[in-house]
Amino acid sequence: MSLVSVRGVHKAFGDHVVLRSIDLEVAAGSVTVLIGPSGSGKTTLLRCLNGLDRPQEGVVTVNDVTLDFAKRPSGAEVAALRAQSGMVFQAHHLFPHRTALENITEGPIHVQREPAAEARARGMALLAQVGLTAKADAYPHELSGGQQQRVGIARALALRPKLILFDEPTSALDPETVGDVLVVMRDLAKQGWTMVVVTHEIRFAEQVADHVAFLDGGVIVEDGPPSQVLGHPVEPRTRQFLRRVLDPLSADLDGSDDA
Ligand SMILES: Nc1ncnc2c1ncn2[C@@H]1O[C@H](COP(=O)(O)OP(=O)(O)OP(=O)(O)O)[C@@H](O)[C@H]1O
Ligand SMILES: [Mg+2]
Repeated sequence: MSLVSVRGVHKAFGDHVVLRSIDLEVAAGSVTVLIGPSGSGKTTLLRCLNGLDRPQEGVVTVNDVTLDFAKRPSGAEVAALRAQSGMVFQAHHLFPHRTALENITEGPIHVQREPAAEARARGMALLAQVGLTAKADAYPHELSGGQQQRVGIARALALRPKLILFDEPTSALDPETVGDVLVVMRDLAKQGWTMVVVTHEIRFAEQVADHVAFLDGGVIVEDGPPSQVLGHPVEPRTRQFLRRVLDPLSADLDGSDDA
């Protein structure tokens, strides 16, 4: 059963069309990886899934909230959509003057009105899940980039979303901390979280994704299981993109390497 359904999403900024008639289904408990060149619309698509960007057209369903953006949903309706998902960005957005645990419990206590003791117990369990029990009282500046990012993931989970959206969660990290974050994400997938992940970590996509969609120019050019899209891509643009990601030195300087 689909947890997420996107139908005919069209998004333009002024006269610059960024998403063209996007259709996407995400099964409950599945992992969808979005890949594609810079500017292809990956972040915008994630932002349309949680209402941070409002498409001009298209119907978006997440869990039990369905919005038809052509009908200009109200702020309250968009907020209901946003409440279905948690988002993890490229750079963590932790509160600098709060500890790791406080960053995680902030939303549950102040937004969701969860009793503080309960929220803290859950926060500690989430820290354990991301391998940071020992860092509960550390401030963000005392944590590595990868540790901060894992706190960011725990913070997103603390709000008990139905869906987690990841926008290049490892691309700003030192190489040696990337693995820790990917392992946490793989474990979340195993636990049955529904995830939509923008990433250039092709190995992660091969191993963890159920579904891969390749975007280019605001269109899903090719999508399917990773064995197909990553292993045996049919579309020349997908092949060219994968070649560049997997072997950056393969591109000709004039870019005409897609013959
Ligand atoms: N708020 C905005 N106003 C105007 N143009 C925007 C805005 N947000 C995104 N765009 C444009 O929309 C296009 C798609 O942007 P988007 O961020 O979705 O791409 P992306 O695939 O995530 O790229 P990257 O891999 O570089 O993160 C780009 O051309 C971008 O400049
Ligand atoms: Mg982006």
